Parts: sequence; C-alpha cells; structure tokens
Amino acid sequence: MTKMKRKGLLLLIISVMFLAQACYYDKEEELYPPSGSCDTTNVTYSGTVFPVISNSCTSCHTGIGAGGNISLDSYESISAAANNGSLLGVIRHESGWSPMPKNAGKLDDCTIRKLEIWINNGTPNN
Ligand code: HEC
Repeated sequence: MTKMKRKGLLLLIISVMFLAQACYYDKEEELYPPSGSCDTTNVTYSGTVFPVISNSCTSCHTGIGAGGNISLDSYESISAAANNGSLLGVIRHESGWSPMPKNAGKLDDCTIRKLEIWINNGTPNN
C-alpha cells in the first residue's frame, strides 16, 4: 500500500468513527431525554407549529424566490407540506430530502416531536 492510500484509509476510518458516534449520541438522547423533558400537552397550530416555522423556516420560505419555490407562510402552505411528507422528511433529516433548516442546526427533538403530534392529529387549524 502506498503512503497516500494509507492516509486516505485512515481518514475514512476516522470519519466513519465520527459518524457512528453522532448516531449513537442521537439514540442516547431519545432513550434518556434530558431533565425538563418534552411537554407535548396542548400542541396547537397557532401556539406551537406556526411559531416554530416562522422562527426557523419562513425567512427563506416566503414570497417570490422562496427556497425550492416552497412557501411556508400560511396554514394552507404549512399543512400542505405536512400532508405530503416533506415537512417531516426535511426536519428529521431523512434521506431523499434536503435537510432543513438549511445550513443550520437540526431542530431539537422536542420540537420535532411536537410537529409530529400535530401531523398525527390531522394538522388541525387550531
Ligand atoms: C437559509 C434558508 C432556508 C431555511 C432557513 C429553510 N429552508 Fe427549506 N429550503 C431552502 C432552499 C434553498 C430549498 C431548495 C432545496 C435546497 O436548496 O436544498 C429548500 C427546500 C425545502 C423543502 C423541499 C425539500 C425537498 O427535498 O424537496 C422543504 C419541505 C423545506 N425547504 C422546508 C423547510 C422547513 C420546514 C424549514 C424550517 C425548519 C426550512 N425549510 C428552512 C432554504 C431554506
């Protein structure tokens, strides 16, 4: 093996180790939620969903030139994204979706959980 190849292999191994650790960390968070755990009572569109979307998403997803031509600035547009699966796909960073919020950290698990609950409840406009 040449020196270059060995270096490449070492880099690969190191990145795989990092990735594996990142996954492990995620799972640990799920198993042992941090104290002050997630309050999912009274999840509503106006009190929960809209504030999250307008803080983290609407800056890029409104008006002409919205990211991906997707507006997330009204109940209609947000519930449409929820119902076609794209909303959860992007915030959970699922493969096949562009991870959102773009170029920023993933939403915290509790926030994602609340959006899931709203969607499971049938995206009520409440
Ligand atoms: C900094 C700007 C920016 C922010 C903030 C942002 N987006 Fe995006 N979004 C984009 C752009 C640009 C695209 C077009 C695809 C791409 O470039 O990744 C996009 C694409 C999407 C898509 C389509 C993805 C696909 O794979 O088809 C959805 C759904 C979406 N964004 C939802 C969201 C949600 C929900 C949030 C908030 C949690 C958010 N975005 C925050 C810029 C942004």
